[in-house]
Amino acid sequence: MPSDYIRKQTLANAERFYTPELKELENTILGSEDKLNHLENVMYTQLVRLLSDNVERIQRTAGAIASCDVLCSLSFVAQKQGYVRPKMNTEGRIRIEEGRHPVVEMMIPSGSFVSNDTLLDDQDNRIAIITGPNMAGKSTYMRQTALIVLMAQLGSFVPARSAEIGIVDRIFTRVGASDDLASGQSTFMVEMNEVANILKNATPQSLIILDEIGRGTSTFDGLSIAWAVVEHIADPSILGAKTLFATHYHELTELEGRLPGVHNYCIAVKENGEDIVFLRKIVKGGADRSYGIEVARLAGVPQSVIDRSREIAATLSDDEIRNRMRDLSETEQEDEKEGKRSSRKKHPSDQIEGQLSFFDSFSTYDLKKEEVLKTIAELDMDHMSPLDAMNRLYELQGKVREFA
Ligand SMILES: Nc1ncnc2c1ncn2[C@@H]1O[C@H](COP(=O)(O)OP(=O)(O)O)[C@@H](O)[C@H]1O
Ligand SMILES: [Mg+2]
Repeated sequence: MPSDYIRKQTLANAERFYTPELKELENTILGSEDKLNHLENVMYTQLVRLLSDNVERIQRTAGAIASCDVLCSLSFVAQKQGYVRPKMNTEGRIRIEEGRHPVVEMMIPSGSFVSNDTLLDDQDNRIAIITGPNMAGKSTYMRQTALIVLMAQLGSFVPARSAEIGIVDRIFTRVGASDDLASGQSTFMVEMNEVANILKNATPQSLIILDEIGRGTSTFDGLSIAWAVVEHIADPSILGAKTLFATHYHELTELEGRLPGVHNYCIAVKENGEDIVFLRKIVKGGADRSYGIEVARLAGVPQSVIDRSREIAATLSDDEIRNRMRDLSETEQEDEKEGKRSSRKKHPSDQIEGQLSFFDSFSTYDLKKEEVLKTIAELDMDHMSPLDAMNRLYELQGKVREFA
């Protein structure tokens, strides 16, 4: 063993040595982490001290740079996309000429976005009911209006040919279906919570965007809720806020003329044989039907399914469903009078020969219906909060759906 090697340890079949150089290296390595931490700490403290001495100045600079950034971005996009300077007013008048959706117009091939006008005020043009098939552009149109108002109020130019914007206190939106499964809320419950929030908090100076409310439940419930919501908003003694209301229930177009300030608009489509062409242009008037089957066809649903749905649609007009519902409840009332609720076997649909048995699936439902009706009869309405009522309704609907 070289003479400068120092014995460290004797093992069963080996001996370990070290040299002074190795020892020194060991110390350097072991101590370096401590040194690193110390150094970092010193430098960090220095930096914090430096910053805290100048914190106001730095924050002011950051604020100024942020403002510059926002204003530069707004003017950059305004110039690039041809925005105009809106005229603001306090009379609540929103008049947009050839408005565009600032995001959608950039996502689709340049020049293909179809611009649309908007007119809302506090007098005769408070509510616009917008009908039209799926994919027609209803949501885009409503959101573009909300965005233009928002952009104008934050001081930006807006995507339009000209715009007069009445200042609003808030913009309320109920848009798109979203489930909050984690907190145990169904789509419909979320939707109704949002509607409740809007109806409670909106003022006559608000702008409300309602996109297809009443979608998450049965047609009749949904239509009834949507109808009642429009009545509530349209009544200036209750709310009277400016509202854009898109709906697939073309029945709601009947509200024009019945309620003050309500007007129908629809998004034009061109029928071309079995196909439809979306023109994306908003025009006065209501859609006469929903074009669901045509849209399903465009989306590539198999032809056999399309043909069959046309067949079914032909036998099932809305009126017919309504009549059958009425038949169903009348038969029940008679049975109740005669005291033979559960013994009833004859079904209204049994009586319509050669027709589609639309209500056959209701037979189990009939048996359980009594239970649901009983629960409803026993509800203590006087001591229920609106939320309790919603919850009970939701629960009952669950039951009904289970058996329907
Ligand atoms: N004004 C428009 N010009 C061009 N394309 C549009 C326009 N409005 C909508 N679109 C296109 O149509 C699609 C569907 O529009 P959307 O507003 O979701 O329809 P709806 O709500 O009626 O079902 C959009 O994603 C967009 O690509
Ligand atoms: Mg939509």
